Parts: sequence; C-alpha cells; structure tokens
Amino acid sequence: MAEESDPTNGATPDPFGRAILDVHRDEAAEPLLQFGDGYGREHPIERFYFSGFEPDDSAGEAWLLEHLDIDGPVLDMGAGAGRHARYLQERTETVAVEPSEHLVRTMRERGVDDARRGDMFALPGRFGRDRFRSALAVGTQVGLAGSMDGLRAFLGDLAHVTDPAGRAVLDCYDPEREGATELLGFRGDPTPGLAHRVMHFAYEGDVGPTLYFRLFAPDRLREACTGTRWTVADVRYDEEGSHYRAALEKRSGPDDSG
Ligand SMILES: C[S@@+](CC[C@H](N)C(=O)[O-])C[C@H]1O[C@@H](n2cnc3c(N)ncnc32)[C@H](O)[C@@H]1O
Repeated sequence: MAEESDPTNGATPDPFGRAILDVHRDEAAEPLLQFGDGYGREHPIERFYFSGFEPDDSAGEAWLLEHLDIDGPVLDMGAGAGRHARYLQERTETVAVEPSEHLVRTMRERGVDDARRGDMFALPGRFGRDRFRSALAVGTQVGLAGSMDGLRAFLGDLAHVTDPAGRAVLDCYDPEREGATELLGFRGDPTPGLAHRVMHFAYEGDVGPTLYFRLFAPDRLREACTGTRWTVADVRYDEEGSHYRAALEKRSGPDDSG
C-alpha cells in the first residue's frame, strides 16, 4: 500500500477527525473517547456521523429540510462525515466546511463534491456577500462561539454571506431543560439561559484540545439575533433532553448588511 502523508502535517492532534476517518476506512482499532470533568465514555461514531440523512423517515430531519431553502446554494458548517452534504448536493450547490483535514478527506472519499477546510467562525474572509441562500450547523458546534459576543459576531458574519432571503438552522443545548446538567462536561452559570460545557476527545494516544462550548437557551439566541438581520422563526426540541434546533430567517428591510 502506498505510504500516506499525515494530513495535519504534525499540527494540533485531531483525534476526533482521525477516528472518524479510520472508521470510514474500517481501520479503527480503538474507540474514540470523550472526556469531561474527569469522566470518559465512548463516542458512538457510527450512529452519530454515518447514519444517512433521511427526511422522509424522520420528523426531525424533515423539519430541518423544511427550514432550509434548497433553491439556492447551501453552506454546511461543521459537516462531519458529510451525511447532510451528500443528500443536499444532489439537490443544490452545497459547500461543506470542516476545520479537520481528516474530515475533509473522509467527506471527499464519501463522495462529497465540495468539501473544504474552513472555520465557521471566520466566514467573511472566505466567502463573499450573499454567497449562500441557506446554512446549517448540525451538532451544537455553534456553542464554540464561546460567549454571547461571539455568538452575535457569528450571526452577523453568517448574515453577510447569506442572501436577503437567507435561512439557517443551528443546533444548541438549552441549559434550562431537564437533562442538561447530565451532559458530559456541563458547567452551570448563574445567568439565566446560559451554561458552559468543557470536554475533549482522545483516540489512540492522541489527546485533542479542550473544547469550550457556551450553551444558549432559545431566548439567548433571540437576544443574540438583535442587531443582526436574523430572527428565530421556529424552535424544535427533541422528544427528550435539552437538545434543540433553531430555524433562523432574515428580517426584511432596506439594508441587508448583517
Ligand atoms: C457533532 S459534529 C457534527 C457533524 C455533522 N454536522 C453531523 O451532523 O454529522 C460537529 C462538527 O463541527 C466541527 N467543527 C468544530 N469547530 C468548527 C469550526 N470552527 N468550524 C466548522 N466546523 C467546526 C467538528 O469538527 C465536527 O465535525
């Protein structure tokens, strides 16, 4: 077999992306572990990242699709192994971004046509104004915005790269819902509607960076939309737990600058 170069060129360890690429290639000898507050557990890669996207069979996935507008280009932010991008690209132009080179490789090997390295928190440098009609971030990675200011800045940037009829769907955890405090790495916050989550991944001796998530209740997301073009059009909770999905739409107005 041809020798393969390390896609990270020896940069920050990427146990999460490496483990997913190994599972895709059927080469994973060990589980991916997720740690928070000294407690660790196996992260279910197959179930989370390789299940197909089946809006005909799942009410939650139908809801997601209904709140995107696939008559225009779509940006998949934190696309993972490409389960949404593979479906969407059959229907519209789809750009899938991931900071992990291992995941970009995984997506390309799985047939994602436009998988690129990219940071969802640095969109305007990468994409022009009005470039997309819709954007999705499935998997609570929006929490990596880290703060209300970070969330506001992200929403403003996302408004810039989506057109005046733009739509977005974001995944979040509501820290006020039952079950939130059971999340691995949950850290409470006395401020209503906010909390933190701190965790990291490890795989085959590689320990990834500590990930600091901010958890926002829907009212905090609404608050962060103030001053941007976005409004929260709909919120859908899972049947159990604190996970919810928010659909954002652009407010109409004379100035669509953010
Ligand atoms: C829970 S996974 C969800 C993957 C995929 N959306 C899915 O539903 O299968 C979260 C993803 O966000 C990605 N991510 C983390 N930080 C990111 C950033 N700054 N920009 C874009 N993606 C990011 C991670 O690499 C990871 O693949």
